[in-house]
Amino acid sequence: MSVVERIQAVDPSGQLDAVRSLPDQLRDAVWRFDSADLAPVDCRGLVVCGMGGSAIGGDLARAAFGDRLTLPMETVRGYALSSATPPDHAVFCSSYSGNTEETVACYAAAEALGAPRITATTGGTLAESARADGVPVIGLPAGLQPRAAVGYGFGVTAEVAAHCGVASSIRTEIDAAAAHLESQLDALMARAGELAEAIQGSVPVIAGCGLTAPVGYRWKCQFNENSKWPAFSHVMPELDHNEIVGWQGAGAGGAGEFSAIFLEDRDHHPRVRQRFELTAELIAPNARGVHRIETEGESRTERLLWAVMLGDLTSLALAGLRGVDPEPVDVIESLKDRLGRP
Ligand code: PA5
Repeated sequence: MSVVERIQAVDPSGQLDAVRSLPDQLRDAVWRFDSADLAPVDCRGLVVCGMGGSAIGGDLARAAFGDRLTLPMETVRGYALSSATPPDHAVFCSSYSGNTEETVACYAAAEALGAPRITATTGGTLAESARADGVPVIGLPAGLQPRAAVGYGFGVTAEVAAHCGVASSIRTEIDAAAAHLESQLDALMARAGELAEAIQGSVPVIAGCGLTAPVGYRWKCQFNENSKWPAFSHVMPELDHNEIVGWQGAGAGGAGEFSAIFLEDRDHHPRVRQRFELTAELIAPNARGVHRIETEGESRTERLLWAVMLGDLTSLALAGLRGVDPEPVDVIESLKDRLGRP
């Protein structure tokens, strides 16, 4: 059975198609941003509020800008803005469903602060409140799992950030990245299948740095939600000051089987490049495997999204190998029920 057939056997809702639609999402995200026809925003920084699949777009956009960021940009995952947030920072609330209580709370907190607000959602409480308050709503298409809408999350956040003046627009890079992903799709699928087979039965521990730091976290979350499998992520060089020691307890007879996945990029500091090399050597004896992945693409945006798509496909390939449907996240729904939905 091919990797695609194995995924399709467990994927009645078409999560594979959703991942493969990333290039289209990126183009549509820019179009949806333009269609919202936002009035100019006068601000000195940007706070992106969201949770889970709706927060990662903020981290990824910030990473794509890298050193091109000229004003502060941060992602807030929680019920409140930082007490240090000044009212001249715009607050962008991103919730795919529009009903995520933490994001709705931040929307209210931003009003209390007097900060300019922008929202992106398919509907829910967030859209209702924003429309009532005259706050712009960038409409997203319904019918996806929030995490599968990452192209929208990334593209819309990058455009909102440029609109707020925290960096110049990267829409030409986004366009080129969409074409790059399309050209790489078969190769990415094959690579994802191989990687999933190599790590199957072990716990993936992903490491990134700079551009690839939020990608590592994305991989972790996609293994959790799509593959229904534990996974962890950390960042270089910090992991060389703690996690590297923990690998001594990994392996049979210890904490169990772990696989290291290093997401490496040409923009990394030369010492970071060296650290990945040496760390791979040092932990290899206790790891099921150390998989060193060099991002592919021209611009930062191309390489970032290439790595995101590889992780998304690998998580689906692992779901296929495990025989689990990647779509449902029943425990999240059950938790939200127990908390009492707003
Ligand atoms: O992937 C998921 O389904 C979750 O991580 C959601 O994104 C998270 O619960 C937040 O929901 P929403 O994206 O609707 O705000």
